[in-house]
Amino acid sequence: MAIGGITLTGVTRTFQVGDEEFHALDRVNLSIDRGAFVAVMGPSGSGKSTLANIIGGLDRPTAGSVVVEGEDLAKLGDAALSRFRNKAIGFVFQSFNLKGDSTSLENVMLPLTFARMRPKQRKARATACLERVGLGDRLHHLPNQLSGGQRQRVAIARALATEPALIIADEPTGNLDSARGAEIIAMLGALNADGVTLLVITHDSAVAGHADRVVEVVDGTVREGSAG
Ligand SMILES: Nc1ncnc2c1ncn2[C@@H]1O[C@H](COP(=O)(O)OP(=O)(O)OP(=O)(O)O)[C@@H](O)[C@H]1O
Ligand SMILES: [Mg+2]
Repeated sequence: MAIGGITLTGVTRTFQVGDEEFHALDRVNLSIDRGAFVAVMGPSGSGKSTLANIIGGLDRPTAGSVVVEGEDLAKLGDAALSRFRNKAIGFVFQSFNLKGDSTSLENVMLPLTFARMRPKQRKARATACLERVGLGDRLHHLPNQLSGGQRQRVAIARALATEPALIIADEPTGNLDSARGAEIIAMLGALNADGVTLLVITHDSAVAGHADRVVEVVDGTVREGSAG
């Protein structure tokens, strides 16, 4: 049992496609310690995003149990799960997933609004998070006024805003050139050094080289890879 970390037991996720049942994840057991930096690798379609979404409470397993930071996710209803996710988990996606009509500051304030933080405190926290990712001079820019690397840094600031225990990044460097990608990984690595548990899905073995542990997903099953 990974105290305060992540424990998956017998996690299966099936999708119904026409008459066929497809096992995107098949009886996965996985334990991740609090504070670890884990890279998740594996072929396209093997189940990596499905795994990340289930750990992050964006999706629910068909069978099996998921415990994150001591919380058994199956015991939470949808509203409680959303609150838990907002508080405990930060997400970073390949396509940034920023609100296009909102500034950097507004994007980063969103999870704080959801957490009912007061406006003044919200603004101060969001500003500090954007400064932390080097965007103190881009607070009022819209996403389309930022470069790809800058957009991903806004997404990281947003992921950080509620001071989560866990950050899940699904191909965070997938839309960036290698120099920009390396900056993003360095930034995530610095958060991990500060104690955040970090789960990074990647096709890039250079990224995996920074991890303490590499987990490989193959055909919906999980096996240990070799850390770089
Ligand atoms: N909503 C869905 N309905 C049906 N099948 C799905 C659904 N979501 C995912 N799948 C299937 O589950 C499998 C795993 O998908 P997943 O997105 O987890 O792969 P992945 O490892 O993240 O791939 P990639 O590296 O391309 O992002 C795929 O074969 C996919 O077709
Ligand atoms: Mg994926």
